[in-house]
Amino acid sequence: METPDGTMRRQVLLFISFLSLSSVAGQVSYSIPEEMAKGSLIGNIAQDLGLDRKRLTSGKGRIFTGDSAEHIELNRERGVLLIKEKIDREALCGQTTPCALHFQIILENPMEFYTVVVEITDINDNTPVFEKTDMKFKISESAVIGAKFLLERALDPDVGMNSLQSYYLTKTENFVLKLKDQPDGEKIVEMVLQKPLDREKEEEIFLVLTAVDGGEPNLSGTAQIHVTVLDANDNAPVFTKTVYKATITENAPKGTVITRVTASDADKGSNSKITYSISNTAADVRDMFEIHEINGNLILKTGNVDYEKRRLYELDVQVSDQGGLSDACKVIVDVADTNDNPPSINIMSNSNTVSENVKPGTVVTMLNIQDSDANENGKVMCVLNENIPFAIKSSTNNFFSVVTDSDLDRERASEYNITVTCSDEGVPSLSSSVTLTLHISDVNDNVPVFERSSYEAYIVENNTPGLSIFTVKARDADWNQNARVSYILEESSVNGVPVSSYVSVGADSGVIHAVRSFDYEQIKDFHFRVKAQDGGSPPLSSNVTVKLLIQDQNDNPPQVLYPVQTGGSLVAEMVPRSADVGYLVTKVVAVDVDSGQNAWLSYKLQKATDRAALFEVGLQNGEIRTIRQVTDKDVVKQRLTVIVEDNGQPSRSATVIVNVAVADSFPEVLSEFTDFTHDKEYNDNLTFYLVLALAVVSFLFITCLVVIISVKVYRWRQSRILYHSNLPVIPYYPPRYSDTLGTGTLQHVYNYEVCRTTDSRKSDCKFGRAGSQNVLIMDPSSTGTMQRIQNEKSILDEPDSPIECPPSPAASLSPYRSLMPTL
Ligand SMILES: *[C@@H]1O[C@H](CO)[C@@H](O)[C@H](O)[C@H]1NC(C)=O
Ligand SMILES: *[C@@H]1O[C@H](CO)[C@@H](O)[C@H](O)[C@H]1NC(C)=O
Ligand SMILES: *[C@@H]1O[C@H](CO)[C@@H](O)[C@H](O)[C@H]1NC(C)=O
Repeated sequence: METPDGTMRRQVLLFISFLSLSSVAGQVSYSIPEEMAKGSLIGNIAQDLGLDRKRLTSGKGRIFTGDSAEHIELNRERGVLLIKEKIDREALCGQTTPCALHFQIILENPMEFYTVVVEITDINDNTPVFEKTDMKFKISESAVIGAKFLLERALDPDVGMNSLQSYYLTKTENFVLKLKDQPDGEKIVEMVLQKPLDREKEEEIFLVLTAVDGGEPNLSGTAQIHVTVLDANDNAPVFTKTVYKATITENAPKGTVITRVTASDADKGSNSKITYSISNTAADVRDMFEIHEINGNLILKTGNVDYEKRRLYELDVQVSDQGGLSDACKVIVDVADTNDNPPSINIMSNSNTVSENVKPGTVVTMLNIQDSDANENGKVMCVLNENIPFAIKSSTNNFFSVVTDSDLDRERASEYNITVTCSDEGVPSLSSSVTLTLHISDVNDNVPVFERSSYEAYIVENNTPGLSIFTVKARDADWNQNARVSYILEESSVNGVPVSSYVSVGADSGVIHAVRSFDYEQIKDFHFRVKAQDGGSPPLSSNVTVKLLIQDQNDNPPQVLYPVQTGGSLVAEMVPRSADVGYLVTKVVAVDVDSGQNAWLSYKLQKATDRAALFEVGLQNGEIRTIRQVTDKDVVKQRLTVIVEDNGQPSRSATVIVNVAVADSFPEVLSEFTDFTHDKEYNDNLTFYLVLALAVVSFLFITCLVVIISVKVYRWRQSRILYHSNLPVIPYYPPRYSDTLGTGTLQHVYNYEVCRTTDSRKSDCKFGRAGSQNVLIMDPSSTGTMQRIQNEKSILDEPDSPIECPPSPAASLSPYRSLMPTL
């Protein structure tokens, strides 16, 4: 009866005991499930006790429960037990089983009591309940496998099969549920870590724990398990790349951000706090860069990135978290070139001077060009300045040579400034240049060239020997010695005489001097050649023809050919007294060996015997004609003096005496003329002897005077001038004077003095000076018969006056001075 087995079996056993007990003690048992509704029938107690329903009423049957609460009421009329109050087994008995209500039914008249036991059976009316439906765990991800976490138990007040039977946990990789039986029959619910947690994968895990009872149907309760995975520093920071590549342009300013490295740490919080640093890097590189500890910016620390010094930097960057975990990466910084270097031009070899006859293509200069920039920035092209006969050639890498491009000519350009400009191909391009001065050395490639193709020069006859006539000039375009022109008279002959006895040429000056005094009446012109030769080796020369024309001077008086002037014989023209007007008496015939105006003769009658002129002379033709009828007054003997005059400047003249007899018969004439001629002859002789005596005395006197003066002058000159010659020689000019021709001024005066008598009888004196200039001045009062006659007269008139031949320029007033250099 006491066995707490299945409900059916219990009820059967209760009925058996009821039957057996009722006869003895009047005890009845019922079994009802809990939670029956109010008024529900429990059992027919009257029938079960074998009592009449009246007995219950008359006996005033009632239920006696002692001090316990009344859950059941007795319906006396119907004789049944009813639920008075809903019975909760769990509230009534808790976990105790079996759970029964014990009470008595008491009857009066007679007093009887019956014991009634109502067993309350369990129904699954309680779900398992967790006291805390939300369980929170904070588990470090570093928790080891096997770690146990105690879970809250659920409660199910039901008993037996209706009580809590088992727990279930949502399926998870990390945990398993483990139930451990305890001696008191309770279970310990544990969650065991079977796979390590990873916060980085799953930071929070939500699980549901279900508790299920064994009711039919079963009931369950759930509780939320919230597992927060706590971070452990189990992750090292990781760079996003293992190698970072960056480029920095050279000359970038200090502070430039080159690149940025980034690393991430899967951990959280302080475990994910990372810092960057440069590690394992050479000190010089480390000095150039710095990395921002927090943001990973790689910053240029100094501003001296030079592509030409270093083109690549490698640095190791390390990242660490606070737990000491770290990662490293490499940063490769390429330096990008900027065009910051102009090309540098190095002259490898250079000729300062090159001969003008070098062939085109001759190398003048070799250059080496360096540009330390890269690529286009270092690609260099060189050009020369324009308009010069040079070219630049690129031989091999960076080697350039300047070569001649065409023929050179020192005479066109003796010096070149060659500017080599080299520029690179960067943008913007940089360039540099160098200027080389190249001198072109002379080669004797130019012939001296005379200023004219031929020369014509004039000289007035009767010149002083040594007179400079004029100057030939040749120019040579070459330089220095190659341009030093010497003039040479080429040997030829004039009228069988070597030309050198006529003229000479100043070797350096080109001045042509007359060697002798020319006489127009002997030679009127002649040719010679002058050669100009330079000083080159071999010398080059050219020649020019010079035609020298001698100009006439009125140095010859007219010569009367007719009538012939004889000493003794008497010639007279006869004019008949009956001659008509215009009767041609005679004709004076005269010639003049000069030419031109100097030989153009005119005739004049100087004086006639009688005042009333009977004759006249034809001015041009020299015809003597009567101009009136002859009268008786006219003497037989007529003496006419005809002056024949040339047209020179000054003119020269000759006189001729024409005797005319005005008679009808020859005997008449003869008687008249005999004493006339005698008379004249006597007078002439007397005059001649007088003149002769005077001339001899004068000559002796002058000779003495000249000798004395000459000696004095010679000594004086010697003391002044080292070089002195009174010979008409080719002057030697010291080289430093050789080019003064152009300037027109000579420092020294070279004098050639000739002092001599032109005629010993007439004591004519000529004094000449010749300078370097060949300007010829003709004194209008030069030599002439008239002058000579006057001189003779003056000598006769003033026998004591000395005839001077002064050596000084003061004598320029001398009537015979013909030449005077204008200096
Ligand atoms: C709960 O009852 C259902 C059917 O009603 C059954 O499938 C299940 O297995 C039961 N659960 C337990 C834990 O007995
Ligand atoms: C070359 O340059 C120099 C110096 O600058 C100058 O004196 C000379 O005249 C120049 N020569 C030529 C041919 O330009
Ligand atoms: C003079 O020059 C001409 C050409 O101008 C030449 O033919 C001749 O041979 C030269 N004479 C001498 C003697 O050099």
